[in-house]
Amino acid sequence: MASFVIPYDVNSPLWSDNADKERGMVVPEGQKIHVRNCASNPDECQLGAQDDGQWVFPVGSVLIKNFSFDNKLVETRLFVRAAKTWVGYGYQWNEEQTEATVVPDEARTVMFNTGTRTVPWTYPSRYDCMLCHNRPGGSTLGPETKQLNRMMGGENLLDKLERLNLFDAPLPKPYSTPLPTPYPGQEGTPPAGATTEQLARSYLHANCAFCHRADGNADTLDLRWGVPIPELKACNQMPKKGNAGLTTATILTPGKPEESVMWARVSTLGDDRMPQLGTYVVDDPGVELISAWIASLQGCE
Ligand code: HEC
Ligand code: HEC
Repeated sequence: MASFVIPYDVNSPLWSDNADKERGMVVPEGQKIHVRNCASNPDECQLGAQDDGQWVFPVGSVLIKNFSFDNKLVETRLFVRAAKTWVGYGYQWNEEQTEATVVPDEARTVMFNTGTRTVPWTYPSRYDCMLCHNRPGGSTLGPETKQLNRMMGGENLLDKLERLNLFDAPLPKPYSTPLPTPYPGQEGTPPAGATTEQLARSYLHANCAFCHRADGNADTLDLRWGVPIPELKACNQMPKKGNAGLTTATILTPGKPEESVMWARVSTLGDDRMPQLGTYVVDDPGVELISAWIASLQGCE
């Protein structure tokens, strides 16, 4: 059987300035995906059980993400597992949709004509890819069991990948609980009964935690799913990187989003913007969710 592209979706997506996305993976024939298992291999979970279920792809794998507006492709990104490292490539689609050319080393912004309107779009540089797709964050950022435990095309994606014999060991059953989809969008709607806290924490996990983890490139916070609130290193903690214009703020002030640097940094497009790359449009529903969660907190427990 030859290698082929397996389409997949995630439960909790990266905010990408309103673009629609399609994702796919190619695993070389005969090779297997390893899934981190913190119970049986504690060595691969130095930062605790929150990393359980992260996927490690074999050499030769290619991950693909397409970005489009109004069904017209603006960018294709490839992330390729070479012998020692991962390499990222961005491709810019032409007006006729016949060809995509590799984006040079520098980031570039264009006005993209979707056919019915014009939207700004910034192609990240190759260096930008690696700031997000960093090794402590797992290199590949979407594929993990709690992100792909979802239905697609009438079948559970994990069942499908097991049926295709793509894992090096059977996945533990029952599968880990899906990350809740934070707000209605391309990935569906939040599950009934999910709390604001769960939705906000799912958002932070998917959009922030690959940098904000104890071994990451912004290690003062730990925003991974499952980290207890006092250990986020945010609640009632003084910011170490400035107050983002809020003189009385802490990073997360329970009950007071407008006195929380975390809220300010996702609400702005200025120098303090979080994430600091890859996004140039404020994610209103995401900000709303973080705000509602902080407002609901009465303390740091
Ligand atoms: C702001 C951080 C950020 C930047 C910059 C970024 N990515 Fe990603 N990328 C992510 C996250 C988070 C995901 C997983 C969530 C999703 O798919 O919505 C992802 C998913 C992907 C995927 C699907 C496989 C995977 O890792 O989940 C590919 C392929 C990809 N990105 C390629 C690239 C390339 C190539 C670049 C540079 C041109 C790039 N990305 C820049 C954060 C980023
Ligand atoms: C690509 C890596 C990256 C991503 C993704 C990212 N951050 Fe950051 N973050 C940083 C870096 C680096 C700093 C420190 C430099 C600075 O202040 O801008 C920082 C600083 C911060 C601070 C200030 C901490 C302090 O002590 O002052 C907050 C709050 C923050 N980020 C929240 C977020 C949130 C919320 C998200 C997701 C919506 C996010 N970040 C996504 C890299 C990242």
